[in-house]
Amino acid sequence: MEEKIVYVALSADMLHPGHLETIEKARQLGGVIIGLLTDKAIASYKRLPLLSFDHRKIIAENIKGVKEVVPQETLDYTDNLRKLRPDYVVHGDDWKEGVQKETRQKVIEVLKEWGGELVEVPNKGTVSSTKLQEALKEIGTTPELRLKTLRRLLSAKPIVRVLEAHNGLTGLIVEHTKIIKDSQPREFDAMWISSLTEATAKGKPDIEFPDLSSRTNVLQDILEGTTKPIIFDGDTGGQTEHFVYLVRTLERLGISAVIIEDKVGLKKNSLFGTEVFQQQEEVHKFADKITTGKKAQVSDDFMIIARIESLILGKGIYDAIIRAKAYIEAGADAIMIHSKEKDANEIIKFCNEYSKFEKKVPLVAVPSAYSHVTEKELADLGVNIVIYANHLLRSAYPAMKKTAESILMNDRAKEAEEFCMSINDILTLIPGGK
Ligand code: SPV
Ligand code: MG
Repeated sequence: MEEKIVYVALSADMLHPGHLETIEKARQLGGVIIGLLTDKAIASYKRLPLLSFDHRKIIAENIKGVKEVVPQETLDYTDNLRKLRPDYVVHGDDWKEGVQKETRQKVIEVLKEWGGELVEVPNKGTVSSTKLQEALKEIGTTPELRLKTLRRLLSAKPIVRVLEAHNGLTGLIVEHTKIIKDSQPREFDAMWISSLTEATAKGKPDIEFPDLSSRTNVLQDILEGTTKPIIFDGDTGGQTEHFVYLVRTLERLGISAVIIEDKVGLKKNSLFGTEVFQQQEEVHKFADKITTGKKAQVSDDFMIIARIESLILGKGIYDAIIRAKAYIEAGADAIMIHSKEKDANEIIKFCNEYSKFEKKVPLVAVPSAYSHVTEKELADLGVNIVIYANHLLRSAYPAMKKTAESILMNDRAKEAEEFCMSINDILTLIPGGK
C-alpha cells in the first residue's frame, strides 16, 4: 500500500512538546511533510518569529519523522494543499477559536476536494508559542537580533507601522499596546525616536540641541524594557566626520536605522515649513554624508535613511525626485519623503513618480499633517514604513495640563482624580516595584 501523505504546518520558532506530539501523531498516519510558515505568513497574523526562515527550516528538517519541508507562503493552507493533495492535515486542537478559526474551516473545505481529512491532536495544557513569545519579551533581546528585525519586517509586511517613543514609559507603550481588530491581533512593529518629542519632553526646542550622550541615555531607558526595532531620528546627522561616530554608536546599541534630513545650519522643525529660515544641503554634500556613513557601518543590516525636505521647503516635486535619485546612488537604504500639506496631494505625486524609478529602496512617510490617509492607502502608494512621529507626547500633554488646571481651580486634587489612573495602577504599572 502506498504511504499516505500527511501535512503539518509549523513555524518551528519555539518548539514545545505540543508540536512534537502533533508530529508524532502525523508520523503514525504516513509520511510527514512540514509546511514551514514563511516570515510573511507569520507576520500576517502575529509578531515576526525570533529565528529566520533558514534557521527554522534546519530545525524542522531535523525533527524525527519529518520527510520533507516546504515553505507555506500564507496563513491560508490552500495553495500547498492543492499542490500536495495530502490524505491528512494534522494540527493541535487549539485553533478552533481565535485568529486561526477561519484558516481551520478553509482547510476542512479544501481537503474535501479529494477526500482528505483533518486530524486534531488535543493539546490542552501544553505551551502556546504566543505565551512563549511573551515570556521571551520579559527576558529581552540582543542588539544584533533587534537590529536585523527592521529589514526582516520590511520583507515580511506590506507596511511597517512605527510609533514614537521618547522615554522608557512610552517605549513600553509601543512595545505592549495590542488590540484585536477583525479577530486579528494588531500592534506596532517598531519605535521612532523623534527629535521633536525627545527635545519637548526635556523642555527644549527641536533645534538639534541634545548631544549624543544625552540622546543615548534616553535610548538606554527605551532599550531596557523593549524588544522591538528602533528607528532613530538623527536630525541632520551633524558634520559628516561626526556622523560616522553616530552610525557606529547606534549600531552598537542595536538600533536598526538612522534617518538624516538634508538640511544644513541651524535645524528647525520641518512642520514650520517656510515660516522659519531653514536651508537645504547641497545634493552632493548630503550624498557624500550618506556614502561616508555607509562606509563606516560594521554590520550589513543597519540602515541609513535619507530624508528629503524639498516639499517642506517649497522646492517642489522635481527637486525631491532629483534628490531621491542622488541619495539612492549614494547608498541610502531607504528614502523618507516629508510633507506638511494637509491634503496629501504632493505626497501622492511624489509616490507616483517614485514608483517609476528603476532603482528603488523602501519608502518612508510621516503622515503628521495628512493624518486622514490610512495605512492601506499609503501602502498602495508604495510606502513601506509609516511613522506616527509625535502622537504619544501630543496626547499626554493636554491630559497633564488639564489635571494641573483642575488642581488650581479646586484647591485640591479630588476633581482631577477622574483624569488620573488609580494609585494602585501606577504602583503596579511597571512590574518589579513591590
Ligand atoms: C520628529 O519627529 O522629530 C521629526 C518629524 O523629525 S517632524 O517633527 O515632522 O519633523
Ligand atoms: Mg526630528
